Order: sequence, then C-alpha cells, then structure tokens
Amino acid sequence: MSGFSPQWLALRESADHRAVNAQVRKAIVDDLAGQERVAVVDIGCGTGSNLRSLAPHLGARQVWRLVDYDAALLGAARDTLMRWADDARESGDRLLLVKDQRAIEVAFLQADLATGLSDVLDHKCDAVTAAAFFDLVSEDWIGHFCAEMAARRRRFYTVLTYDGREQWTPPSPEDAAVLAAFHRHQASDKGFGAAAGPGATQALAAGFQRHGAKIMTGTSPWQLGPEDQMLMQELARGIAAAVEETGTIAKDDLARWQEARRNASACEIGHLDFYARFG
Ligand SMILES: C[S@@+](CC[C@H](N)C(=O)[O-])C[C@H]1O[C@@H](n2cnc3c(N)ncnc32)[C@H](O)[C@@H]1O
Repeated sequence: MSGFSPQWLALRESADHRAVNAQVRKAIVDDLAGQERVAVVDIGCGTGSNLRSLAPHLGARQVWRLVDYDAALLGAARDTLMRWADDARESGDRLLLVKDQRAIEVAFLQADLATGLSDVLDHKCDAVTAAAFFDLVSEDWIGHFCAEMAARRRRFYTVLTYDGREQWTPPSPEDAAVLAAFHRHQASDKGFGAAAGPGATQALAAGFQRHGAKIMTGTSPWQLGPEDQMLMQELARGIAAAVEETGTIAKDDLARWQEARRNASACEIGHLDFYARFG
C-alpha cells in the first residue's frame, strides 16, 4: 500500500489533465511523431492517469508498461483503463485497448522503484514518463535516475511535479505558517531518502544537463475554482494532516486554517512539467 488511494487519484485526475503544460507535451509528441509504434514506460503510474492524459496525443499504435509498487493501484489501473477504452480485451496479463482509433497495449509491472530502477529501465522503450511522482523521491535517487537514463539514452517526460507555490482565495493569516510546515513534511522520507519535494524539477534539470541532455521545463499549475470544491476540501484535509504530523503548528491555528479553507473559492497549486532528451 502506497498511501495514495484510488479515490484521491480519481478526484484529482481532471485537474491534473487540465493543468498539463501543452508546450512541453508538444516537444515529446513531436519527437515521437512519425514512429509506426511508440513504447512508453510510466513509473509510479497509480491508476494510469498519465496514460489517459498522454495517449490521445501519441500515434495510432502504442505499447505502455505501467509500473508501481502498489498492487491495489495496479488493479485499479486495469479496471479504470478497461472502462476508459472504447474496446478492451485481456491477453494474458496485458490489456489490448482501442481508444479513439488508437491501439494501446498495456502491461503492468509491480516493482519498487527505490530498489529496482535498473531492471525497470532495462525494458526497451521510446520514452520514460511519470506524473505527480518526482517530488516523492530524494535528490540522490534523482542523480541515480539521471545516470541510468543517460546510460540508455532514454527520453524522459514528467508532469505535475509540485513546485512549492500555493495560493488560496481568500487568503488566511495562517497560510504562510501552514505552507512552511507542509514543506517540512514534504521533505520527509517517502521510501527514497529525504524527499526532494519542491526542489525535484531543479534536481532533474541539473542531473540531465550533467549528462548532456537537452531539457525543457514549463509550468502546470492546478487552477481550482468553485467546480473543484471537493478536490479543494480533500486537498486542505491532506495538507492539514501532513502539517499535524510535523507538530510545528498549534492545533487551534491549524483548525482555523482548515475552517477558512472550507470557504475557499479558488486555489492555485504550482507544478512543473519537464522533458529531457539526448541528442
Ligand atoms: C501521487 S501518486 C501519482 C500516481 C499517478 N502517476 C497519477 O498521476 O495519478 C504517486 C505514485 O507513486 C507510487 N510510488 C510511490 N513510491 C513508489 C515506489 N517506491 N515504487 C513504485 N511506485 C511508487 C505510488 O504507489 C503512487 O501510485
């Protein structure tokens, strides 16, 4: 169990898809255009949201390998993708999907990326991708990841890495203290050593550039409004729970902050998208 519930991932999916930076996505889509068949590995796939977001922009024949260490999420990915597709068949462990006239073959792999990265990257592919994953890993792991990717000269595209910016409307006097405490929690170990949190994209940029890759970065903020009320409430609940774990904010102040967030009319959460390629 990863601590990410399928319900939370489903709640955020539409905000995630709306937020993706179109220019960064175009860079990888253009690089893969014209290939008869595109193979993609999605690491930390959850229920497959990243596939549902990116596949409609790729070519007519796609092969995806979805990797996560959480068996329950991989099961939810299989079910969700079968419902999402226009047509779905099982072939052994794989899914053969048709969506908007694209043939999409999907394989699932349960693997712990903290310990088993090399094996995962040994699967031949045209690109490795990830969504909402890199703020969980450590700077050391990012350095290792960049070296492994450079050794295989793999393209890399990741979206929705938290960048530390949050803006709630209306603002509340506790915002700054809550955000500082949340960032302290962000740095806690999520299984890869002290997490890079909002520094992850900078670490990726430095790591890929060290190995000679060309890189591109773009913003992909969640821009939430009244129609995202449930997501804003669940987000505030999650932030408050994380902040409480740090023990750095008085319970009353935190309760006041969460109460104020019940009346939030808008919220912007900063993310960055990133693309790197060799040659
Ligand atoms: C925030 S969720 C994002 C899921 C999905 N990419 C999305 O955008 O909806 C982070 C994902 O990373 C996975 N994860 C965390 N640590 C992992 C590890 N050590 N090995 C493999 N997957 C991991 C979690 O199980 C979860 O699915």
